[in-house]
Amino acid sequence: MKTFVVTLCLIVFPHTCVKLPPNFIKCNRHEPNFEECLIKAVNYDIAQMYKPHKKVRLPGVEPLELVSMSSNVDTNLIKLTERLKNCQFHGVSKGRFRTFVFDFQRRVISANANLPFVESSCDYKLNGTILGVALKGEGPSWLDFTSFNMSFYVTYDEVVKNNKTYVKIATCKVDGKPEKLHFRIDNLFDGDEEAGRRVNDIVNENWSVLYDDIKNEYLDIPGGMLATILKGFFSRVSLEELFD
Ligand SMILES: *[C@@H]1O[C@H](CO)[C@@H](O)[C@H](O)[C@H]1NC(C)=O
Ligand SMILES: *[C@@H]1O[C@H](CO)[C@@H](O)[C@H](O)[C@H]1NC(C)=O
Ligand SMILES: *[C@@H]1O[C@H](CO)[C@@H](O)[C@H](O)[C@H]1NC(C)=O
Ligand SMILES: *[C@@H]1O[C@H](CO)[C@@H](O)[C@H](O)[C@H]1NC(C)=O
Repeated sequence: MKTFVVTLCLIVFPHTCVKLPPNFIKCNRHEPNFEECLIKAVNYDIAQMYKPHKKVRLPGVEPLELVSMSSNVDTNLIKLTERLKNCQFHGVSKGRFRTFVFDFQRRVISANANLPFVESSCDYKLNGTILGVALKGEGPSWLDFTSFNMSFYVTYDEVVKNNKTYVKIATCKVDGKPEKLHFRIDNLFDGDEEAGRRVNDIVNENWSVLYDDIKNEYLDIPGGMLATILKGFFSRVSLEELFD
């Protein structure tokens, strides 16, 4: 079992209804080309998100920041007590959606996106075993991944306020696997370079099997980050404002 806490940095504003920023594309949900328009709109919008849009409570995603995350991982191959802090992800605004479906009947948003390249850095503190190898340490770490096809499945409820319909995010599930993943974990074993290099090699050589082992738990992290971003946005922008 695993427990984790994600804290994402969002600027909180008083709750008032706002208009979509003028540089966001607005689609008409009664037009036959709605789905096409939506893909164009979200891809345009995510590229705009290199900077924050405070009025609609969208954080800037260059970098996307994760303040802290704690987890207890206990899978077949990995037993870890881990704390990550000050994480920064670079490259998220380069993500491109291939499909994006807003199903108003079933109240489901489902989408597929490709992230070409994301680099991240975190301060870590951990202890435990990976593939039976003991490890322990505290310091800086880096992770980058290439060509990450992600699928998103978001369910929501509708809440009517002041005669406007607001989306209230219920669940947020992320799935997928990158083509390549590379770790660098510095200062393991109080800086014993030889032992540290050995752990880095084992993790990088076996990343694919380790990823499969842990992905159901770790994909809750981008899932939680996406839910936080969507909750902020939809708390400000009603469906009537978002779509014609
Ligand atoms: C990590 O260390 C803490 C404190 O010593 C211990 O309680 C925990 O069980 C360890 N975690 C693992 C996975 O060994
Ligand atoms: C609520 O919205 C409907 C449809 O847009 C409109 O006909 C009605 O007058 C509105 N009611 C109030 C109290 O604004
Ligand atoms: C990602 O999706 C594209 C298009 O569907 C496909 O060509 C590519 O092989 C996929 N990459 C991975 C890593 O699954
Ligand atoms: C990890 O990778 C090494 C080197 O590629 C390989 O010899 C070893 O069998 C792998 N371990 C597991 C558990 O897959």
